[in-house]
Order: sequence, then C-alpha cells, then structure tokens
Amino acid sequence: MSTIFEKFSKIGIIPVVVLEDTKDAEPLGKALVEGGLPCAEVTFRTAAAEEAIKIMTEKFPDMLVGAGTVLTTEQADRAIAAGAKFIVSPGLNPDVVAHCVKKGIPVTPGTCTPTDVEKALTFGLDVVKFFPAEPAGGLDFIKAIAAPYVGVKFMPTGGINANNVRDYLKYDRIIACGGSWMVKGNLIKAGDFEKIKELTAEAAGIVKEIRG
Ligand code: 3PG
Repeated sequence: MSTIFEKFSKIGIIPVVVLEDTKDAEPLGKALVEGGLPCAEVTFRTAAAEEAIKIMTEKFPDMLVGAGTVLTTEQADRAIAAGAKFIVSPGLNPDVVAHCVKKGIPVTPGTCTPTDVEKALTFGLDVVKFFPAEPAGGLDFIKAIAAPYVGVKFMPTGGINANNVRDYLKYDRIIACGGSWMVKGNLIKAGDFEKIKELTAEAAGIVKEIRG
C-alpha cells in the first residue's frame, strides 16, 4: 500500500474543503493540524483551490494535502504542480485516472456500482472513493459491494457526519471517510476557526476511539 494510503488509514477522516478565499487557507490548515486531522482534500470547485493547496503545503509541510473534485487531466496537473499529494474525483473518469497512474500520484476516483469498481481494478487501483455514500445506500451497500472485490478498500464520502461515522470506521474495508462537517463553508466564511478546530478534534477523537 502506498504510504499516502497508510496515512489515510491512520488519519481516518479526510476533511473535504471548499475554499472561496485563499486568505482562509492558512488558518484552516492550522485548525485542522491543531485539531488532529492533519489532512485536507481541497476541492477544485473554486478558483482558490490551487493557491490554497500551495499555501497549506508550504505552511504545514507535515500536513497531507490533496485535491478533490478533479474532473480533468489539466486540473490534475495544476493540483500536482501546486503540491497536491493525492487526487480525488466524484466519479471515475478514465482519462484522469490513467493520467494520475502514469504520473505516479495516488488517485481515488469515485465509484458507486460494481462496474465502477471493476473499472478501477483495470487501472490497478485498490483504493476507491464511494460516492455519494449515504444517498447511495451507506454502509450496507458498501459491505455488499466490497464482498466480491476482496482486495479493494473504500473511502466513503457524502452525507457522513459525527453521528454516523463510527459505524463506517468500524468496518475494516473502509480506509477512511471523507466529510465536510468539520469544515463547513459558513464557519470558514465567518472566520470561526476555533469552532472548526473543535469539530476537528471531536472527529479525531472518534477515529481514536474506534481505531485506537
Ligand atoms: C463533497 O464532494 O462535497 C463531499 O462528498 C462532501 O460531502 P459532505 O458535504 O456530505 O460531507
């Protein structure tokens, strides 16, 4: 397993971040590091994403910073150049996955069906995102889909929060969960990094409680 995925497993919860303003990158990174989840999937949904990845990787060298919502090979290249250590996407775009595999950057494409998982297998992947986790059937669905694909681990994302994350983390085929509940846009906009740190610490505490 790549060391990036070992880190995913250890951190347990990957904060999914939407940053509108690059000025928030440093305080947000600080809150995540101090809260105990030294990791961020910075989504390429905003113009600030690329610069935010750069800022977080520079200011917090030990933080695991990657890019999310990567929909094109061009975005993947920009994310990698900015310092992203992993690439995540909501679905499985074969061009993006092939590009990342060729470049040797860990890529976690979204899957939601057995066909998606098998497509991921053709690229040699053994870690996939499962998206959107709760609306698509949650943990029961993941257990059913995981059964035939014995070597595959899942990163469920979408609808996961402090109330339901424990059950996901208890299942050994889940490498980590993605979620935005500790880094909500309204908290970032309000500059409430203390609250973000508090919610991050609560999430980190749940990982520790379940995984030790
Ligand atoms: C996303 O892409 O926004 C992630 O799925 C986050 O989902 P969440 O906001 O339900 O945690």
